[in-house]
Amino acid sequence: MGNDMYLTWLVAFTALLSAQVDTAKILGIFWTFGRSHHLTGSALLQALATKGHEVDLLSSFYDDVKIPNFKEEHLKGIMIPDTLNLNASTISRIITYIPLMNKNLEIFWENEAIQRLIKTKPKYDAVIVLTFFNDYILALPHYLGVPTIIYSSGGSYRFNNKYVANPNLPYGKSIIMGAPSTSFFGRISSTLLNIMLTILEDYILASFQNEYNQKYLPGSPTIEQLTKNVSLVLVNSHFAIEPPRPYVPNMIQIGGFHTQKMKKLPQDIQNYLDSAKEGAVLFSMGSVVEIKVNLPKEQLDIIMAGLGKIAPIKVLFKSEIEIPTAPKNVLVSKWLPQNDILAHPNLKLFISHGGLGSTTEAVFHGVPVLGIPFFADQKTNIDSVIEAGFAKRLELGEITQKTFDSAIKELLTNSTYAANAKSGPRFSRTSR
Ligand SMILES: *[C@@H]1O[C@H](CO)[C@@H](O)[C@H](O)[C@H]1NC(C)=O
Ligand SMILES: *[C@@H]1O[C@H](CO)[C@@H](O)[C@H](O)[C@H]1NC(C)=O
Ligand SMILES: *[C@@H]1O[C@H](CO)[C@@H](O)[C@H](O)[C@H]1NC(C)=O
Repeated sequence: MGNDMYLTWLVAFTALLSAQVDTAKILGIFWTFGRSHHLTGSALLQALATKGHEVDLLSSFYDDVKIPNFKEEHLKGIMIPDTLNLNASTISRIITYIPLMNKNLEIFWENEAIQRLIKTKPKYDAVIVLTFFNDYILALPHYLGVPTIIYSSGGSYRFNNKYVANPNLPYGKSIIMGAPSTSFFGRISSTLLNIMLTILEDYILASFQNEYNQKYLPGSPTIEQLTKNVSLVLVNSHFAIEPPRPYVPNMIQIGGFHTQKMKKLPQDIQNYLDSAKEGAVLFSMGSVVEIKVNLPKEQLDIIMAGLGKIAPIKVLFKSEIEIPTAPKNVLVSKWLPQNDILAHPNLKLFISHGGLGSTTEAVFHGVPVLGIPFFADQKTNIDSVIEAGFAKRLELGEITQKTFDSAIKELLTNSTYAANAKSGPRFSRTSR
């Protein structure tokens, strides 16, 4: 054999070796009434499947995704809060959820798919759990004898910090709860909220959850023991939009991972945006806020009138109801592929509720934001992009024809916002 031949064999052999990769068998358990939480979590598991891992997902939502190595099963029956009471404070909203969460706990354990999992005890290498007031699920990876990985759609806050002893800043802005302000009294109120949540989680919910775990998985360790035996926490936050926070090495920020995989736009939306030579605006209040229930008619009319005035700029408007008063340049749709739309070069402005997923997407694609926050962390997220110089905020109560028109005009015509959006956010020390 000549030298060339040796070389060919060497290359072939090396290629064979490197083609051998270790793949794992991974189970995802998502039990949530937040569709956005499910969607990003599912995107994570789909990415793992695409990398060659074998992934099973049990979730309270079912998308009918068809990719190799990825199997979905629907966990049925989760109870979803009827409507969002935006007048209620965070703590009182959580308190009204307690009976619902307790009911959902029972529905979870009674689920046919969960009962089958307990009976057959299949072999996995790791379990990824989506947590939010549902630490009882951690009994399952323990029962299956595999390491627990937590995926959370929030960042560093007390719910996630406890799993890996990450330092907690009780007085700090909380990415999930938001904070009234960074004033002295704002800090006190954040601290009190933290104390109340600790009591709620560690004493009230845990005792209830322990009881049920003993019923459905006798001999389970306590919730306290389970939460202290977590191997890895993946948080869907990113330092680009989260105020400075400490992170222990096994709590990892993966925020933005779901924004990077762009899909092709449906042809009608592609044509619509391509033809928007003067620019386009996306209006979307996320997957929880309902236009019919949460946006008063008066404000909706103002918004529609304001959007009509910016023609020939085109608008894509997400709404679960039809809006007969929509002006000609506004296309109303029940569902819009938000991330792919934000990636379109003609898109000039995103009118958003400021959810973490939406804010991350705006940052990733460099689109200025008009934030209309509703609850939880939305106000805090919008603050982050305001500080970075590419957003404005209008509280629902502040929306008048004058404020709305002037906010969108400023964001669309003053090029400072678009320039700052492209250069991305920076944080000062005071924003903690
Ligand atoms: C919230 O408050 C406003 C006025 O402050 C009232 O009009 C509205 O009906 C309230 N909504 C709910 C769900 O209680
Ligand atoms: C912690 O989890 C591991 C599996 O990752 C398990 O082997 C171990 O028994 C658990 N320890 C406790 C105290 O539950
Ligand atoms: C554009 O916006 C920036 C930041 O708010 C402001 O400092 C600047 O004066 C504005 N420019 C004009 C022409 O209004």
